[in-house]
Amino acid sequence: MKIPISKTYFDAADEEAILAPLRNGWVVQGPQVAEFEQAFADFCGAKFAVATTSCTTALHIAAIAAGIQPGDEVLVPAFTWVATANAIEYIGAKPVFCDISLDTFNLDVSRLEGLINEKTKAVLPVHLFGWPAEMNAILDLAQKHSLQVIEDAACGFGTYYHGKHVGAFGHSGCFSFHPRKAFSTGEGGMITTNDEKTADLLRTLRDHGGSRSDFQRQQHQLSFLLSEYNVLGYNYRMTDLQGALGVSQMKKADWMLSRRREIAQRYNEGLSHIDWLRLPQPPSEAVHAYQAYVCLFQPEKPGLSRIENLFGARNRLMAFLEERGVSTRQGTHAPAHLGFYVEKYGIRPEDCPNAYMAERLSLALPLYPQLTEEEQQYVIGLIQEYNPKQ
Ligand SMILES: Cc1ncc(COP(=O)(O)O)c(C=O)c1O
Repeated sequence: MKIPISKTYFDAADEEAILAPLRNGWVVQGPQVAEFEQAFADFCGAKFAVATTSCTTALHIAAIAAGIQPGDEVLVPAFTWVATANAIEYIGAKPVFCDISLDTFNLDVSRLEGLINEKTKAVLPVHLFGWPAEMNAILDLAQKHSLQVIEDAACGFGTYYHGKHVGAFGHSGCFSFHPRKAFSTGEGGMITTNDEKTADLLRTLRDHGGSRSDFQRQQHQLSFLLSEYNVLGYNYRMTDLQGALGVSQMKKADWMLSRRREIAQRYNEGLSHIDWLRLPQPPSEAVHAYQAYVCLFQPEKPGLSRIENLFGARNRLMAFLEERGVSTRQGTHAPAHLGFYVEKYGIRPEDCPNAYMAERLSLALPLYPQLTEEEQQYVIGLIQEYNPKQ
């Protein structure tokens, strides 16, 4: 049996949807992107949604729109995809890494306040793997210290915190449609916000700084007149091919999310008695979207002193599964320990020990809507028979 870590779900309706822009000839950002944005905003309960080329570019312009400037500091979790920190570096600002909790893989909010100084301008919580960050504590702290909140909701489609969809808590929220996410447009991103001025600025920033999009220009008289260009912008426009795919994928979103939750539930049941794996167990105020099902490998209490041995043991488990056709991955990485950041800031594992341990001990299991019960039982059976002390 061959079971990948993840698989996109595209059907005949998706294939049909992308033919429309090919046939009508409007392939750059246009009506399909506008429809996708509206559907996305409605789903998330946000007033506005602005599509981009990726979550990385979404984070970049969301940080600019929040007023982040060169020399500012932004608090980011130390366990996240490198793009969270990179988006801050692009501006010449400094990502300040805050350690995470090994229970949630999200920001350890008790450590945030100690990292705030007069340069700190924003906090960038990540809803990692679809588990919401502790937004109440984060918003309280942001208010107390006049910080902007930009949510990295790359994995957060279908994630709720106290009944509210993520991405609508802070100044803005940034989503990803990379194929590893709950649904995909190939590459692609979206920013949600409840502030109209921010939405307008984001639309300008993603489109070379222009005051009107090409599509808007073509809808009106004097369409031959170019827009005004008063701010430094970027070309971060989503194509209408992707917009059409997004509209079509969103029609199946509820089903795809419910499949993810069913599969996660089956892992919870099948693996709950395995004491060397810590399973994701979100609290009642959180609705986990299971963009990924990520456990912690812990045949003993994780600690930095023995971490490299444990890392080797975790990798032996992953190799055991791979040899039997089952793909797994580490949850994500700890950017502070990647070459660019080590060289620039010299952060040591003991500065953010949980992030370092999460990188070395996390284990993502296969999860995608088409995963059958038989395939999943095969994965569960292999883990049940495994001896982590070997
Ligand atoms: C937490 C997080 N932030 C940002 C990104 C970047 O998203 P994209 O690939 O759409 O640029 C990812 C992608 O995996 C992510 O997991």
